[in-house]
Amino acid sequence: MTARRLPILLLLAAGFALLGAGRGIAQDEETAGYSRNGADSCLGCHEDAVTLAVFRTPHAVPSDPDSPFGHGQLQCEACHGPGGAHAGRVRRGQERPAILNFDDDSGYTVEQQNAQCLDCHGDTLAAGWHNGAHPADEVGCADCHNSHAARDPVLTAAGQAEVCFDCHRLQQNAARRPFAHPVADGRMECTSCHAVHGETVAQALAQETVNATCEQCHAEKRGPYLWEHAPVSEDCGLCHDPHGSSHPGMLTRRGPQLCQGCHAQAGHPSVALSADGLPGAVPSRLLLGQNCLNCHSQVHGSNHPSGSRLMR
Ligand code: HEC
Ligand code: HEC
Ligand code: HEC
Ligand code: HEC
Ligand code: HEC
Ligand code: HEC
Ligand code: HEC
Ligand code: HEC
Ligand code: HEC
Ligand code: HEC
Repeated sequence: MTARRLPILLLLAAGFALLGAGRGIAQDEETAGYSRNGADSCLGCHEDAVTLAVFRTPHAVPSDPDSPFGHGQLQCEACHGPGGAHAGRVRRGQERPAILNFDDDSGYTVEQQNAQCLDCHGDTLAAGWHNGAHPADEVGCADCHNSHAARDPVLTAAGQAEVCFDCHRLQQNAARRPFAHPVADGRMECTSCHAVHGETVAQALAQETVNATCEQCHAEKRGPYLWEHAPVSEDCGLCHDPHGSSHPGMLTRRGPQLCQGCHAQAGHPSVALSADGLPGAVPSRLLLGQNCLNCHSQVHGSNHPSGSRLMR
């Protein structure tokens, strides 16, 4: 340790009253490859701002016995694994032995990386986590979480979407369309609709079904209606793209095409026509609407006694 670094260490030691003192790594830990002095060993070489920021996170709570910096815990090595060899002396020309890091070319598998976190968080996360699409595709805890940031962006409304957009370009494009849930500007989160760990439902939805997920906020669409519109109680996603759309109302398609995706065009086409060219030149009421919705306005269902056609 150089004289130049000493003050920083003293400062930290004073602030947290944990470095070196009160920990005392047991002999068996040392033989298992942990460093002799815990964080003090590490900070001798790693004193950059990014590394030090870990002391401002909820992980650096000396009074919490479950925290990596709690009494008797392994400090940096609780996450980075045994670092005795890495922190030790290295002869000139010899390569410094590796230590576990959380990136793709660290030489450690994503499973090994996640295991470090699951060691403490496994009880609450493991069951749903292992069912999820993320671990199945080798996405690690550290792909979403930044453990050295005083405020982990993915845990903030303003920062979450950017983290997800890094991999989910389709949803990023959708969120920037003119009609979208306000996810891109942080007024809503992806996790308003998705449970990214503890995943038990297909597509990691927050509730058992798409509809139950939407009805968390749009309860009025649940009904019950006197006259239901069958697709509404089945799946809101039959007509809406929850990630965003270029059509008003976040519809998957525009006006008549949306309805005609299911309803035969033969009945009464909804394009605006004049009487010109029609046999007998008598305009039918049904041919004059701009859009099905002009007449069938109660598209989610009707409570009017004579609303069976969803018109009132
Ligand atoms: C004697 C100096 C020294 C000590 C002590 C030391 N390291 Fe390092 N560490 C290094 C060097 C050098 C690198 C390589 C940096 C580079 O390649 O940019 C490194 C890299 C790392 C990396 C990144 C690994 C990678 O693959 O890029 C992590 C994480 C790390 N150290 C953690 C620790 C921890 C935790 C401790 C304490 C147990 C520790 N270090 C102790 C010198 C040290
Ligand atoms: C709660 C778990 C955790 C603790 C505790 C922790 N780290 Fe890290 N560390 C990580 C993760 C995860 C990364 C990968 C980058 C990120 O997510 O911030 C990382 C990255 C690093 C890096 C590499 C940065 C780079 O540029 O690749 C170094 C060096 C490092 N940590 C050193 C330390 C030291 C020294 C300590 C103790 C003072 C420590 N870490 C404590 C989880 C932790
Ligand atoms: C030694 C045990 C331990 C290890 C290892 C550990 N954590 Fe934690 N973690 C805790 C404790 C204790 C808390 C604070 C109490 C709580 O929220 O459960 C916490 C809190 C968190 C939080 C919530 C932080 C917040 O701002 O509210 C996240 C996210 C988290 N840990 C992720 C990770 C990740 C990712 C890793 C691996 C890189 C990891 N943890 C490793 C014990 C640990
Ligand atoms: C796909 C991104 C993603 C991955 C991968 C991920 N997380 Fe999270 N994590 C989040 C988000 C978003 C939140 C906040 C919202 C929530 O709880 O759903 C969160 C919250 C947490 C919390 C705090 C929970 C609370 O209620 O305070 C902990 C602890 C945590 N994650 C640990 C982990 C661990 C450990 C792993 C790896 C096994 C992991 N996470 C993997 C995105 C992720
Ligand atoms: C308003 C609710 C809602 C919000 C907010 C939301 N999603 Fe979704 N997401 C859904 C629904 C519902 C599905 C299932 C769609 C289906 O069944 O076709 C889904 C599916 C997905 C899928 C799987 C797509 C596929 O084709 O399999 C991904 C990935 C996804 N969402 C990512 C995100 C991301 C990233 C965010 C934040 C930027 C986000 N979602 C925000 C409701 C939402
Ligand atoms: C490091 C890349 C990465 C990050 C970051 C990431 N994801 Fe994913 N996500 C994936 C991969 C890979 C899959 C599986 C393949 C797919 O469906 O695209 C996936 C799948 C999903 C699915 C579909 C789940 C299923 O069971 O089909 C949802 C929903 C999702 N992610 C939401 C999120 C949210 C929300 C965030 C941010 C909190 C996020 N993801 C961050 C890579 C990532
Ligand atoms: C966390 C609450 C929340 C959830 C869950 C939610 N929404 Fe929304 N939704 C909103 C908010 C808030 C707005 C208004 C956005 C605005 O004013 O910019 C909105 C707007 C809409 C709109 C557009 C209204 C318009 O006039 O353009 C539609 C359609 C919609 N949501 C459908 C859905 C569907 C479908 C789901 C389920 C997949 C869903 N929502 C889940 C909060 C939510
Ligand atoms: C059969 C197609 C269809 C289905 C299924 C459907 N909607 Fe709609 N929804 C529409 C149409 C059409 C509009 C009107 C858009 C406009 O005003 O331009 C609309 C508008 C909305 C609006 C904004 C205006 C308002 O009335 O508040 C919300 C919110 C909404 N739908 C939520 C839902 C939810 C939640 C579900 C599932 C329970 C759902 N929708 C199912 C077609 C549908
Ligand atoms: C996903 C398929 C689907 C879409 C899209 C759809 N509908 Fe329907 N609609 C149905 C089904 C199924 C019924 C029930 C038919 C039955 O009971 O015979 C129905 C019933 C109706 C009825 C009542 C018919 C009756 O016989 O009482 C009207 C009116 C109607 N839809 C109008 C619309 C309009 C307007 C749109 C566009 C906003 C639309 N539908 C979009 C599937 C759809
Ligand atoms: C000018 C008003 C108007 C417009 C526009 C309109 N409808 Fe209708 N629709 C009606 C009336 C009135 C009935 C009831 C006819 C009856 O009871 O015999 C009806 C009946 C229906 C029915 C019930 C089955 C049937 O054929 O009797 C469906 C389904 C339907 N419309 C779908 C649509 C769709 C899809 C569109 C857009 C392509 C549309 N309507 C546009 C007025 C309209």
